[in-house]
Amino acid sequence: MCGIVGYLGHREAYPIIIKGLKRLEYRGYDSAGVALQTEDGIKLHKCKGKVSNLEEMVAGMELRGTSGIGHTRWATHGPPNDVNAHPHFSESEELCIIHNGIIENYSSLKNELINRGYEFKSDTDTEVLINLIQEVHKKTGSDLYESIRLALNEVVGAYAIVILNKLNPDELIAAKMGSPLVVGVGEDNEFFFASDATPIIEYTKNVVYLEDGEIASVDRKKGLRIKTIKNQEINPVIQELEMNLEAIELGGYEHFMLKEIHEQPKSVLDSMRGRVDLLSGKIVLGGFKEHEQRIRNADRIIIVACGTSWHAGLVAEYLIEDVARVPVEVEYASEFRYRNPVITEKDVVVAISQSGETADTLAAIKMAKEKGALIYGICNVIGSSIPRETHSGSYTHAGPEIGVASTKAFTAQLTVLTLMALSLGYSRGTISQGKMQRLLMELEQIPAKLEKVLKTDKQVRYIAEIFKDARNMLYLGRGVNFPVALEGALKLKEISYIHAEGYPAAEMKHGPIALIDEEMPVIVIATKDSSYEKVVSNIQEVKARGGKIIAIITEGDTQVKEMADYTIEIPETTDILVPFLSVVPLQLLSYHIAVMRGCNVDQPRNLAKSVTVE
Ligand code: G6P
Repeated sequence: MCGIVGYLGHREAYPIIIKGLKRLEYRGYDSAGVALQTEDGIKLHKCKGKVSNLEEMVAGMELRGTSGIGHTRWATHGPPNDVNAHPHFSESEELCIIHNGIIENYSSLKNELINRGYEFKSDTDTEVLINLIQEVHKKTGSDLYESIRLALNEVVGAYAIVILNKLNPDELIAAKMGSPLVVGVGEDNEFFFASDATPIIEYTKNVVYLEDGEIASVDRKKGLRIKTIKNQEINPVIQELEMNLEAIELGGYEHFMLKEIHEQPKSVLDSMRGRVDLLSGKIVLGGFKEHEQRIRNADRIIIVACGTSWHAGLVAEYLIEDVARVPVEVEYASEFRYRNPVITEKDVVVAISQSGETADTLAAIKMAKEKGALIYGICNVIGSSIPRETHSGSYTHAGPEIGVASTKAFTAQLTVLTLMALSLGYSRGTISQGKMQRLLMELEQIPAKLEKVLKTDKQVRYIAEIFKDARNMLYLGRGVNFPVALEGALKLKEISYIHAEGYPAAEMKHGPIALIDEEMPVIVIATKDSSYEKVVSNIQEVKARGGKIIAIITEGDTQVKEMADYTIEIPETTDILVPFLSVVPLQLLSYHIAVMRGCNVDQPRNLAKSVTVE
């Protein structure tokens, strides 16, 4: 994880870097730091805590310089304290580095450097890397660009790095392997580096996405040069950013999470836009079309993902098996990759990831690709690592998701997965044109129905007030609503720190029922679908033991309304599309509870949005 920003140009670097770090804070917020190239050498400021702590620390200081680097950290090696905060100097203090990633062979490199007399101030792998570069620079006498290349050949691991050189204030050098890095190319040799495009967007729309194994030098006179660690010159390919500034600002909302919950009608619509022809009942999913024959003939579909994306995968299992009659397995990417799984050329692996950077998901698809499977990506961030590693795929068009707890990405993923399931069913002849058309018409109404669900906000807030001090909560659902129960529980625990568990409602009898008493709120998704009657029985079992029931029900349902202590109504839709609507009150409930408990909703403790470590 960690967010990095670099700047070289004609403006003051500090305000650009600090603003960029705030945009990247979703990637980690254990410590923050900035290093500026000044007339008196490199000035370094860093401290434990958030970017705002850094700002307080440097308030009143003169922070001049037209080139610099900044970092916001999610700790891997060494506890989050001032010393371990980035940037890090090399021993001679000539070089200064920021790093996102992990150097796996840092321990052996460190021992070698210690034997050569190097002393280390921090516990980080990053300080090892910068001293290795310094050592190679000294030993070979090569220029810094070349020394970095030589040093990186000795490194095993993942990195996105940017390096300041005291002896050459006109140059910044960066390199990438595994962790993301974007170069912004402004006018008159003005350059930006960042972990994603958000720190760059207001200065230039021209960017170069560095590939793994590339090293970029930006220079006030020589401009941008790129070469690989194998010493091949690369011609930079400049792309135009599609993002706009509005998408990454709060726009009047108190938190990004609330903004993103409310953006769902739009993000679902955007993820469908141009892909559905209601009149003919056809779907145009480019990535699917390209490999239709192979996907249609697959023996199995294996979905790999982590966190909320894994929950979207679980919903897709119901969808695809129901509509397309192909066996589906849904795997935690982290477990899948270490299990030596049986994968053949007749498997299709679908990787779901909002960020497109999750290290375990990336490693899982690389492994499946080697074994011959077709890899299909469903990602939100254009140009991120996973889409670049896949054979094909479809983007979700949810726009930037900044709140660490994922919300709009989930429903956007469901949209694309529904289109994929329907395309597959149609292609395999397991769904008729008529049924497909009916389902597409239902899907088309989801954005308007989401608007309606969002109107339950006041009522959800009222329920949140009652249960905000609960110590535990149980979430129950059946069928497609079981993954929604898991997602509801995850949302609550990650942002409000209340212990919560999601369970298939019928499994409650095999254990969790022992926990039920007056102190245990139980949230049940009891919409009118094929498992309705069974869920009603489960509600009675909870009531009989004094549990408090909060039920998500279908508009107009009176039976559960009479039994439950509190209800939230959502519009009716066809069974397999219910998760689009049933998840929203659960997102709102966890949001309001977290706000009432004084928690940092957008940046919950210990978490990061983009998990680029394994
Ligand atoms: C982190 C985030 C979650 C996210 C998960 C998977 O844990 O905090 O919100 O669901 O990573 O991320 P991805 O970007 O692959 O969907």
